[in-house]
Amino acid sequence: MTTQLSLKADELNINDFIAPVAPELAQVEEQLNTNLIDDNPFIEELLSMVFTAGGKRIRPLLVLHSAKATNITKEFSHLQIVLAVLTELIHTASLVHDDILDSASVRRGSQTMNKRFNDRLAVLVGDLLFAQASICLSRIMSPIIVGIYGQVLGDLCAGEIQQMKQQFSTSISWQDYIKKSISKTASLFAAGTHSAAILNNSSEEIISSLKDYGTHLGVCFQIVDDLLDFTGDSKTLGKEAGSDLRAGVITAPALFVLERTDKSANELEKLISTKEVCKQEGLDNALALIKNNGGIEATINLANQYGKKAKDSLQILPNSIYKDSLAGFTDFVLTRVN
Ligand code: FPP
Ligand code: MG
Repeated sequence: MTTQLSLKADELNINDFIAPVAPELAQVEEQLNTNLIDDNPFIEELLSMVFTAGGKRIRPLLVLHSAKATNITKEFSHLQIVLAVLTELIHTASLVHDDILDSASVRRGSQTMNKRFNDRLAVLVGDLLFAQASICLSRIMSPIIVGIYGQVLGDLCAGEIQQMKQQFSTSISWQDYIKKSISKTASLFAAGTHSAAILNNSSEEIISSLKDYGTHLGVCFQIVDDLLDFTGDSKTLGKEAGSDLRAGVITAPALFVLERTDKSANELEKLISTKEVCKQEGLDNALALIKNNGGIEATINLANQYGKKAKDSLQILPNSIYKDSLAGFTDFVLTRVN
């Protein structure tokens, strides 16, 4: 099952979002591979391993489109490229560290750094990417944006800590789940979209609407991510599917069943709290309970609600192809298969 409701998953292609900012995205790619630290060729090799492993570049695309959508008449600032680069650097660094925490072997269809080398080198590669991001951040020379991204780094850690602390807990509230999704994912989306408007000296209303857009889109993205863990296959996802519940990470599809008032909720609660879900039979039973009791459909519905909120946040922006792209991004996120 895909996440689609009204659109077919292959109706939207990431290339549709690349085309309006293709020259700028090419500069982003080049800068992502640039060693800002020293002249050690192994560092260049590591950067190239990380960045040739794929990735959809959703965050840099959001920065570039937000930058263009809030700057229809003025010259495009090269600092927007730096902002897009540092946003992707932070995202990639957090994934390198996340793969260590999850002992993951595959990411973006390639071996993770921890699998290819070991945890110790992978920690350092993640740190190296954060260091590159810090250098980029200093080049933007905006204390406000430094503060926004400093908060994001804290949010990423706080989100992961919250998730770790709540493993195998069946009393997670929707508020907990959305808060964690904002910390882990939406905070960085929102930093990118509204910092682009700040760099353009946009009005407070525009800045705030792009912050809302990034937040809602980020939550939508994380809900779809959590859904794909149940509905996707590892080959298409480029990472291991079905791992959340096995690891006791409770996400929207399970939460919808846990809040039911019939016996499905009790059965699922038992499979999780006794850690039966760590074994194949228990996991299969839990997945069947979730799939047979509306967990998937309700999650699609929830993701659509956040997609709509993201689109609605764009109303105040002047009309442009970039605004249309930002709106289209919500459909892309909702119909993505990896
Ligand atoms: C992937 O989500 C992980 C994240 C979005 C954030 C990871 C953040 C950290 C590990 C904190 C490190 C940050 C700093 C600043 C040192 P997921 O696990 O839901 O998705 P996945 O299935 O792609 O792994
Ligand atoms: Mg993970």
